[in-house]
Amino acid sequence: MPVEFSDDFVWGVATSAYQIEGALTRDGRGSSIWDDFCRGAGNIVDASSGQGACEHYERWGEDLELMKWLGVDAHRFSIAWPRIFPEGHGRLELRGLDHYSRWVDELLEAGITPWVTLYHWDLPSALEVRGGWQSRDTAKHFVDYAIAVMERLGDRVNHVMTHNEPWCAAMLGYWEGTHAPGIKEPAAAIRAAHHLLLSHGWAIEALRSALPECRLGLALNPAPVYPQTNSAADVDAARAQDATRNRIWLDPLYGHGYPADLVNDLRKVGAWPEGEPDWLREGDLKAIAAECDFLGVNYYNPVRVSADETVDTLPEGARVTDLGWEIEASGLSDLLKRLHEDYAPKSLVISENGAADNQGPGPDGEIDDRMRCDYLREHLAATTQSRAEGIPVDAYFAWTLCDNFEWAEGYTARFGMVWYEREEGERRPKQSARDYREHIAAAQLASKRSTG
Ligand code: GCO
Repeated sequence: MPVEFSDDFVWGVATSAYQIEGALTRDGRGSSIWDDFCRGAGNIVDASSGQGACEHYERWGEDLELMKWLGVDAHRFSIAWPRIFPEGHGRLELRGLDHYSRWVDELLEAGITPWVTLYHWDLPSALEVRGGWQSRDTAKHFVDYAIAVMERLGDRVNHVMTHNEPWCAAMLGYWEGTHAPGIKEPAAAIRAAHHLLLSHGWAIEALRSALPECRLGLALNPAPVYPQTNSAADVDAARAQDATRNRIWLDPLYGHGYPADLVNDLRKVGAWPEGEPDWLREGDLKAIAAECDFLGVNYYNPVRVSADETVDTLPEGARVTDLGWEIEASGLSDLLKRLHEDYAPKSLVISENGAADNQGPGPDGEIDDRMRCDYLREHLAATTQSRAEGIPVDAYFAWTLCDNFEWAEGYTARFGMVWYEREEGERRPKQSARDYREHIAAAQLASKRSTG
């Protein structure tokens, strides 16, 4: 299958600070909620933390060489807020800014465009003590942080995402309690969701006026939600999932406010007050709907829902990753179509896509991660197909470069196209890295041919 990608299509690879950097006490970095959460008994399956991770903070040079070899156009990475404001706000740590500023220079010199994510879940602990995302002040501090970062990087960085997957930050962090800060309180999660959205809108407005040329957006993890059967109960369960997973973010971001059915569902579980919530103030919805230049989509798998929670919703014969996540690229096509039809973002960016494949070295030392190779090929084909249908998908970032710290799964799930074993220390490209390199080279050649 010839991969049809135009010249300006962006090929990238994505990472996040806490998952790769290590060096948790270097250069004045403050503590984050993930440092705290990792210390809690039973929170991380292998009782590990981001300490060490794949040591990107020290070994960025090796990562840069790998990215050059892959031939990527762009690199999406996140800034660690506690490296910039160790106490969350107030005192600025210049060594943190210096670090990222150097990294941006290195990338640019290698011909790789930096795409910066401002928040990939590592909130400074000092802010969590005062309520974290449950507090409106955190949204204000986020704007100051965004401005401080971009005052330094904005002369060279032209692509910025405010947040990464606020669904995880709010729902896993404050409702399920399976991610930091580990709170299990539905009403807290919804307050957090609102403040995450508000901080996004405020930051977009502030960055827009400071840096009019910069392309601004955020990355969500929306998913296609399929009812298990056509029964009224399953269809309604899917509607409810779609509301908390997708529409709670997309509707306010695109100017429609919070969905009425969502508010209704949340009231039933005490997550939304009977009257007007005290956290929802005049002007908030307008601020949240600040215009973005693109929407980042992190896609891994479809969501299947049954009203009966004991039903196994995985289709018979479905292929799964090593985390048990269904492999189904048509979910990506369905999702892109839906986002285009219902919300019409000017540009869609696949900001993450990848698979946990724990395949290790064979007897010859080669790492034949066939499942990830198939996963990437199928999802790239779905991306091509969506573009052919006229959906403006303009970039694809594979998740991820190196095996790293996979949140509550610790180091037990490998998402890297490059093998990293902490005791060995060596970075070794897997078959999927060679494949991805070939996809990129073929696409670049094809687009040169068609334009030249
Ligand atoms: C995300 C991610 C990554 C995960 C990846 C695999 O944005 O979803 O947070 O950090 O590692 O999604 O679960």
